[in-house]
Amino acid sequence: MEAWVIRPERLGDPIDAMQLERIDVPDPGPGEVLVRVMAAGVNYNGVWASLGLPVSIFRYTGYDFHIAGSDASGIVERVGPGVTRWKPGDEVVIHCNQSCGECPECNGLDPMACSRQKIWAYETNWGSFAELCLVQSQQLLAKPARLTWEEAASYGLTYFTAYRMLVDRAGVKAGDNVLVWGAGGGLGTFAVQLCRLYGANAVAVVSSDDKRALVTELGAAAVLDRRQFALHDPDTGERNFEEIKRFGKAIREVTGGSDADIVFEHVGAATFFTSVFVCKTFGTVVICGATSGFQLDFDVRYLWMRQKTILGSHFANAYECQRANQLIAEGKIEPVLSRVFPWSECPVPHQMMKENEHVGKMVVLVGAEREGEGRRDG
Ligand SMILES: NC(=O)c1ccc[n+]([C@@H]2O[C@H](COP(=O)([O-])OP(=O)(O)OC[C@H]3O[C@@H](n4cnc5c(N)ncnc54)[C@H](OP(=O)(O)O)[C@@H]3O)[C@@H](O)[C@H]2O)c1
Repeated sequence: MEAWVIRPERLGDPIDAMQLERIDVPDPGPGEVLVRVMAAGVNYNGVWASLGLPVSIFRYTGYDFHIAGSDASGIVERVGPGVTRWKPGDEVVIHCNQSCGECPECNGLDPMACSRQKIWAYETNWGSFAELCLVQSQQLLAKPARLTWEEAASYGLTYFTAYRMLVDRAGVKAGDNVLVWGAGGGLGTFAVQLCRLYGANAVAVVSSDDKRALVTELGAAAVLDRRQFALHDPDTGERNFEEIKRFGKAIREVTGGSDADIVFEHVGAATFFTSVFVCKTFGTVVICGATSGFQLDFDVRYLWMRQKTILGSHFANAYECQRANQLIAEGKIEPVLSRVFPWSECPVPHQMMKENEHVGKMVVLVGAEREGEGRRDG
């Protein structure tokens, strides 16, 4: 089959790291399913995998090649021994959590607590930037009939992550003020929609007029443009506390005087100090990533004196994915697809993502011949 492949000897910018190769089709083992990919969603983990950061993925996959792509829509091609819930021909979307399915954590606590938990196509191989991908059967979800192949491939990883962060980890509720960093990006566009659905007020942070327009359309209660706040000195990188306080004041101005009950974090080094500072007393900072750097610092006095909570969150379990997918099927949450790329251009959106030149989600067509195919509800 054809696949866009990353190799250890060419780690670097996605535009060079990803190259088109022919790879043998894997066989589905017990509990596994081979899916014919129709469209594949672009995620930041494809950028990390290409760069070999924060560590080279080859350290844990055991392969000398890597097929990225943690989102897909497609058609079941072949099922392995023991698979009973799915059959060839079923139209599916794929969530990206893999776990052993056998341990007490998988069966009583949460598959995200499994000691063998991995993100498919980042910590494992056989992702969706290939004609066929290999997954565990528990990763399959019914494709919402109202969506095209490219829409269905666009949302899983970021939306399901945002769902767990806000709904199950931070417990968002009606009336909450939620500061959403990167609101015009992959995670942020779903965080804004989830806030609207749950009756919370998303205070969306963006850095362009396009993103301001998008998040306003998605239901943000207020929008702040981070270009108007010099949270760091551009020359020295030093934190600018006066500007951080001014940012906090701007949040209170748009919320009618309240700090953020929840801060939706994934930017990391560039924003974390501010996130802890602007979070309300007894509020929560929920974090799942660190695009701008992994070593975070904050002034702990603001945490303990004001009794705030920092919560880590990582993707979602199959039950959360299924519940979140149902909201899409019912039209309560919409995919936010900004651009569709042909198969031949797979590295391009990854490079754009690295340069922060995109809005919302980008998708690559794989088996689908053109945009607009795959809708089944007329
Ligand atoms: N743990 C998990 O399960 C999980 C799941 C999904 C994603 N992640 C991680 O979360 C991060 C975001 O993912 P994504 O798909 O949302 O990426 P994305 O589409 O690139 O969006 C990230 C947004 O962050 C904002 N941003 C970038 N640099 C910033 C800075 N210095 N200060 C403030 N804002 C900045 C940008 O918005 P503006 O420029 O408009 O402000 C950008 O739109 C990535 O690191 C990803 O690996 C983790």
